[in-house]
Parts: sequence; structure tokens; C-alpha cells
Amino acid sequence: MITEKKLNPEEMIEQINPTLDLFKEIEKLKIEKNAIILAHYYQEPDIQDIADYIGDSLGLSQEAAKTNADVIVFAGVHFMAETAKILSPTKKVLLPDVKAGCSLADSCPPHLFKKFKEKYPDHLVITYVNCTAELKAMSDIVCTSSNAVQIVESLPKDQKIIFGPDKNLGAWVAKKTGRDLVLWNGACMVHEIFSREKITKLKSRHSEAKFIAHPECESSILEMADYIGSTSGLLKYCKENSATEFIVATESGIIHQMEKENPTKTFIPAPPNNNCACNDCSYMKLNTLEKLYLCLKNEFPAVEVPQNIINEARKPIERMLEISEKLGL
Ligand code: 13P
Ligand code: SF4
Repeated sequence: MITEKKLNPEEMIEQINPTLDLFKEIEKLKIEKNAIILAHYYQEPDIQDIADYIGDSLGLSQEAAKTNADVIVFAGVHFMAETAKILSPTKKVLLPDVKAGCSLADSCPPHLFKKFKEKYPDHLVITYVNCTAELKAMSDIVCTSSNAVQIVESLPKDQKIIFGPDKNLGAWVAKKTGRDLVLWNGACMVHEIFSREKITKLKSRHSEAKFIAHPECESSILEMADYIGSTSGLLKYCKENSATEFIVATESGIIHQMEKENPTKTFIPAPPNNNCACNDCSYMKLNTLEKLYLCLKNEFPAVEVPQNIINEARKPIERMLEISEKLGL
């Protein structure tokens, strides 16, 4: 849930003095308000560069849980800011653009998931963090793409499990763990559009390149990959692997960090099955440096989660954080 104010963001952006150094202004505001900027790897380069912490969903949750800041500016999407609010309910959590949602979270409406869950009363519910707070409140454990395999493996072999909302991540986890998971039929629009045919052609033109993919991609894409992992896993692989070329099947924002960390290596976005040749997440890219500046200045829009949902959703997120800490993730 988002607090509403009658302000037109476009008009506010137009009013920003074009000579203003937004990087400097944001730094000043951060000190004034004891604020921290947490950014996901899919954010635009300027936002990644000004962030205090940049990471994947697990790292961002861990930072949100431990920060001493009074204000968290979450440069990511709504479910990420909501998770930060659930973990730090007394802090103000700001999201630069209220419309920064997630197609995967939208693919699992809580009232339908409730009915689905009722069909499997003896199953434990693991939900991927890319879902609404209401869905988390219906779950036993939350996971991210960094720890989904380990979270499933931490449960007894005979434990029956529902996994949602991402069917692709779920199928990959089922394959890796040898478990029979009951999957919700959800997916991410960015990771579902990669073209196997175009990737095959690209791989033959770059025969030395490693092909790497996020587990939200379809199995027909994942089976071609040299490495599959979360955004932080993909970054680590590119740093540690001796290859000099990588074809990357995930949102294109991550290429900024890949290039920064590996200036002599080449990163090629995997081609999607459409004509725009673009792997942008339209939600992630709604946040801009201007909107980040305005939200910090005005402390708006702030993410709010009802107290009863915070109480229920906190338990499965904390369970994930505890298991991850034990495993050193
Ligand atoms: P990561 O946790 O791997 O960063 O994934 C987040 C996400 O939204 C992928 O689409
Ligand atoms: Fe959601 Fe997909 Fe965007 Fe990630 S890339 S935030 S899963 S829509």
C-alpha cells in the first residue's frame, strides 16, 4: 500500500533546476535525513553509482534488516521496498516511483493463491520474495534466487512443498534438489522472452563466450547455460571465470556492474524474442535519479504495510534470513 498525495511527478521533475548537481544534492539530503540508498542491480547506472549498497534481493533484505538509518530509499521495485518495511517497520521506506511493480508478483493474486494453498493442506509454502506482502503472510518460508535451493534442501526429504509464484525458478529448484514441488503458474515477463534460436546463433558467432542465465528464464533457455544463478551469482561467475566474453540472459541493468568489475571483458545481452532487442524491466526502469532526488527531498512516496500483514509476513522472511545466515549466504 502506498501513501497518496495529489502531486504530479512529471510536473515536479520539470521544476528541478537543470543546473542542479543531483549527485551532490542527494549526498547532502542523505546526511541531513540519516538516509541510506539501497539499489538493485537492475537499476539505471546513475542510481547504481550513487547507492550506498547495491545487491540482489537477498543482500538487499539483509541490509534493510540491519541498517541504522532512519530513512531507507529503496531503488528497486515495490515488493523489495515492502520487504524492507516489514523488516524495519519503524523506518520510513521510500520508493522513487510508486508504479515500480513486478509482473511476477502480479502473476500471483493473493485471493487465488489462498484457494490454491487450500488444495494442499499438508504442504509447506515456500514463496519467492518476488511477491506481495499478503502472499508472504500466507507463507512458511520466503526465498530468493540466491538461496532457493538451500532453503528447499534444509527441509526434510519427505516434506511436501508448494513453491510460488515463479514456475521457472521452481522447476529449476525441483531439478537441482530432486524434489517434487507443487508449482504456482507464474512468471516474469522479462525472463520469459529470451529467444533460444537467436541465442543459438549468437553462441555460434561467439564460440568462446560463456552463456549465463538467471533461473527465472524458461527451462529451454536454462538448459543451454554454462552457469545459472541469481544476479549476485552471475556477477561472481563473470569475475572468477577466465572467459573474456559472456552472453547474459537477465535484465540488462546488471551489465553496468559486470563492466565496472571487469573492464577488459565483454558482456552481450542475450537477444529476446521481440523486435526491440531490449531486456529492460519496465518497472525497474521507472526509477530515475530525478525521482530518487525528489522522493528523498519530499519523503514521498512512502511504502506502508498494514500491521497485521507485517506481523505475519515477517516470520517467513526472518526464517529465510536465519537459514541463510547459518549457511553463510
Ligand atoms: P535477484 O534476487 O537474483 O537479484 O533477482 C531479482 C529479480 O527481480 C529478478 O528478476
Ligand atoms: Fe519483476 Fe521480472 Fe522486473 Fe524482476 S525483472 S522486478 S521479476 S518484472
